[in-house]
Amino acid sequence: MRKNSKKNQVITQMRTKAGLTQTELAQLVGVSENTIANWERGSASKWIGNLIKLCGALNCTLEDLAPEEESQHIEVYDLSGRDIDTVRNYCEAVLAKDHKSSAKIASYATINDLQLRYWLDQADKLIYDFRDKGIDIPDVESLIGGLTLCNLTNRLVHSQSELIVMPNAAYKLGAKQFIDCVEKIRLNQSFIDKYVDLDEENYKRGLIFQNWILSVYVIGWRPGREVPMHHHGNSLDAIRVVQGEMTHWELSEERAHDQNIPFEGIQGWWEEKKFDANSQVYKAGDLVLVDRRTAHKIKNCSNDTLVTLHFRFGAPADDDRWMPDVLTFGCDSLGQCRVFETPAINSPKLIPIQFNN
Ligand SMILES: [Fe+2]
Repeated sequence: MRKNSKKNQVITQMRTKAGLTQTELAQLVGVSENTIANWERGSASKWIGNLIKLCGALNCTLEDLAPEEESQHIEVYDLSGRDIDTVRNYCEAVLAKDHKSSAKIASYATINDLQLRYWLDQADKLIYDFRDKGIDIPDVESLIGGLTLCNLTNRLVHSQSELIVMPNAAYKLGAKQFIDCVEKIRLNQSFIDKYVDLDEENYKRGLIFQNWILSVYVIGWRPGREVPMHHHGNSLDAIRVVQGEMTHWELSEERAHDQNIPFEGIQGWWEEKKFDANSQVYKAGDLVLVDRRTAHKIKNCSNDTLVTLHFRFGAPADDDRWMPDVLTFGCDSLGQCRVFETPAINSPKLIPIQFNN
C-alpha cells in the first residue's frame, strides 16, 4: 500500500494539474466517480486499458502512471480463443434478441470472469456504435474480427519496451515483439473475403482496421499482378498469406547502396532483374515480416488468385488504392472498439509515427 500511495498521489496531482474534478475524469475515462476515488486512494487495481484511458485524459505517458516495477504487473485483458467463442455466442444472442441467452452469459462473466466481462462490454459498445451511427450491423464474424484487432492494439501497446501511449506520440516497438503479437491473430476467412477486390486495373486495399498505430488491410492480386520494390520507412509490416502463393523480394538499405540503387527513390524499380535480391515463395498461412528500412516487392507469379493480409505498424500508404465504402473498425485512444463507414486513411488526424532510432 505504501508503494501504491506515491503513484496514487501522482494521479491526484495530474488530475489537479489538468484542472479536472474526479467526476470529470471519471467521464473522460468512462468509469464511475467511485472508481476514480478508489484509484486515488489505492484501494482498487487498474488494468492496462484504464491506464491508457487515464493517460489520454491526463495528457501523460503510461510510465508516468505506472513505473517500471509496476508495469510488470499491469493486467491486459487479452481476448483468448476460449473467450472468443463465448463472445461470439453472446453476440449471436444479442443480434437474435435472445435476451435470456445473452443475460445468462453476461451474468456468468460478471460473477466469475472479469476478463470475459470486459470483452462482452466491448462487444456491447461496438454494437451500440453501429446503431448510434445508423450503420447496419454486420455478421458476428465481422464483429469478432473488429474486437480481435482491437485486442491486438492492446497487445502492441503493452508490448512496447518504452511505453508512450498518447495518440500521435512516438511509439517504439521491436520487430520481434510486433510479429509475436501478430502471429497470434486469426481472422475468419469470410470476414477477410469482404475486403478482397480483384480490381481489373490495379490492386486495391480493403481497410479492415485502423487506429493511431495500426492499419490492417487486405489485398487481392490477380495472376501476374505486382507491386514494385518499395519500402515503408520506419513502419513495420507483417504480411499473412491468406490464399494462393506470394513471391516476395526483400532488399535491405545496405544492399541497395551496395548496388547503387537509390533507397529513397526505390519505388521505380519494377523489374527484379535490375536488382540483386533473393526471392522467396510463401504459401497460405505463412507470415512474413518486413522490417523497418527494408524494401520489398510482391508479385503473384502463379495462375491463381493471391490474397494477402497486411498489418502495418506505422503510417499506411496515402494513395488512391483503397477500396471505398468498406466497413472499417478502429480502436480509439481510450481503448474502445469503433466502426467507421469510410476509411480514414486520408484523414489529417493521422500523423506519421516518429521513432527514436
Ligand atoms: Fe509494402
